[in-house]
Amino acid sequence: MVEKKKNPSLHSCDVLIIGGGSAGLRAAIEAHDTGAHVLIISKSRKGDPHTVLARGGINAALGTMDPEDNWMMHAADTLREGELLADYERVEILCKSASGAVNKLVNWGARFHREEDGRLTQRFFGAHTYRRTVFYEDWTGEEIIRVLMDQVDQRGIEIIDNVYITKLLKSSDVNREESAGEETERDEVKGALGINIERKEILIFECSSLILATGGYTRVYSVSSSRIFENYGEGVALAYEAGVDLVDMEMVQFHPTGMVWPEKALGTLATEAIRGEGGILLNSKGERFMKNYYPERMELGPRDIVARANYNEIVNGRGTEHGGVWLDVTHLSREKILDRLPTMYEQFKKIDGIDISKEKMEVGPTAHYSMGGVVVDIRCKTKISGLFAVGEVISQIHGANRLGGNSLLDTVVFGKIAGDEAGRLAMEVREKSKTGTPSLLRLKVNNQEEFEDRIFEVKEPAKFRNEIQELMKQNAGIIRDETKLKNGLKRILELKKEFYSKRSTFKEFKIEDDNCENVVLTWEVKSSLVICEAIIRCALMRQESRGAHYRSDFPKMNEKEWNVNIYCRKDGKEMVLLKQNVKEIKGPLADLLKAHIKPKHHREFE
Ligand code: FUM
Repeated sequence: MVEKKKNPSLHSCDVLIIGGGSAGLRAAIEAHDTGAHVLIISKSRKGDPHTVLARGGINAALGTMDPEDNWMMHAADTLREGELLADYERVEILCKSASGAVNKLVNWGARFHREEDGRLTQRFFGAHTYRRTVFYEDWTGEEIIRVLMDQVDQRGIEIIDNVYITKLLKSSDVNREESAGEETERDEVKGALGINIERKEILIFECSSLILATGGYTRVYSVSSSRIFENYGEGVALAYEAGVDLVDMEMVQFHPTGMVWPEKALGTLATEAIRGEGGILLNSKGERFMKNYYPERMELGPRDIVARANYNEIVNGRGTEHGGVWLDVTHLSREKILDRLPTMYEQFKKIDGIDISKEKMEVGPTAHYSMGGVVVDIRCKTKISGLFAVGEVISQIHGANRLGGNSLLDTVVFGKIAGDEAGRLAMEVREKSKTGTPSLLRLKVNNQEEFEDRIFEVKEPAKFRNEIQELMKQNAGIIRDETKLKNGLKRILELKKEFYSKRSTFKEFKIEDDNCENVVLTWEVKSSLVICEAIIRCALMRQESRGAHYRSDFPKMNEKEWNVNIYCRKDGKEMVLLKQNVKEIKGPLADLLKAHIKPKHHREFE
């Protein structure tokens, strides 16, 4: 029998971090080191965030294998891969800080692969000019989480897992029990409302700074490299509901190689490291088809191009029995496979019953990364005072398409920045208020409608989820056009109406039916509806093809008209779109891009 609590349980800290992945943990370490009291809350189990699925590696232009490499080349590759949609100043920060960030992980005990002479090994990933991906076998993300968790534990930073956040609390949402100083007119973050999934209780968190490190939104697609319980864009939706703009939401990366068989493994990542180590792609006729799409780099071409090539082979009848293409490493030595790709060896053996040193893998595109997200400045601040965001939840670092190996890097580089900013701000607040950590908050609940906005559930949310995921795959997937997008938007808006008409609410601070899973699923659907509307509206507006966004009715990139970022803003109940020119690249990076980096080769698809 679950005990029902009348009042929500309250937690107070200086810096609240939502998300226990690499971005959240790295931010927590830095915030703690400013002197702030930090609390991490996480939906997934402690030590098992989505980051553990990041396989192939983390980039830094260390030049251990290719001494010609440097941060500028890394930045130029990143901008070119992103089809010049990223903010070049963030890319500069990312690539300049990369060696320091990776060396920090090494100093903290990360066991990255080394050559016999002790140099860190760096392998090729797609579309990199040089070998710059540092790795631990083929489970680099898990190794990074191990190291960061160790630092978090050493500092005694508390993590509460199994917590699901349903609303960010701002000054306008709360009453203070005791005044902790002057209230300002400006919107400030005050905390968050959520539920403890295991204990089935409602929680209120109070803080001076809050960092969203909640991941991306690729689970709004039915075939995704995320697990079923992660990446519904919850952090993006929370920020949007709180009044923060979103940008580049149409840019969803499809990884070329997810498992297609057995069905239960659909979408599970087959790491790019497989191709980095020499794996090749074949169609059902045994042709190495990448020669028709990107002969310059073959399987190590840009991710968007390889993913569309795979898709094209499949839909044009040259796919495998289960709707994939072949990924083949049987020409590599078993020793190399076990040294560099042990997880992949185990994964295919366990799930598909095949020995990849002897048999080919069946793979196809899978929704993998969201380049779009919350608008922040280069110090990870949103426009709401005290609210920061970092990791896949934010945007403008990877542009229209992300280089493999840059996401782990982005989490640790910007995690450090976000943690430092959030920690210092919280310490200033503490200094001003002179009351130690902030005083406890009371939610302002003036009427039922206000409470319903914060927590509710619908019956059978999985039905909504399944339909949304399938319609996104069909209508806003790897190849898009106006008709499909318009149909998709129409259905999303219908589903939204239906969803809200079916909601049933709780009495204040009580979860009546003891079914937290249902509340969580409801909230995943609620977030998905925001995210899908944004993806489709932006994809409809962008009448060109660029990076991961491919419109068969506008198959070319149009730099004259579409060198813009598309923003989504909440205007009452409506989502409005705004365009803004991409920041012009200035300085030595602009010259390097002109001189050395060839434009990507584009191919229209059958
Ligand atoms: O294929 C991979 O290992 C993915 C890496 C990444 O997305 O950075």
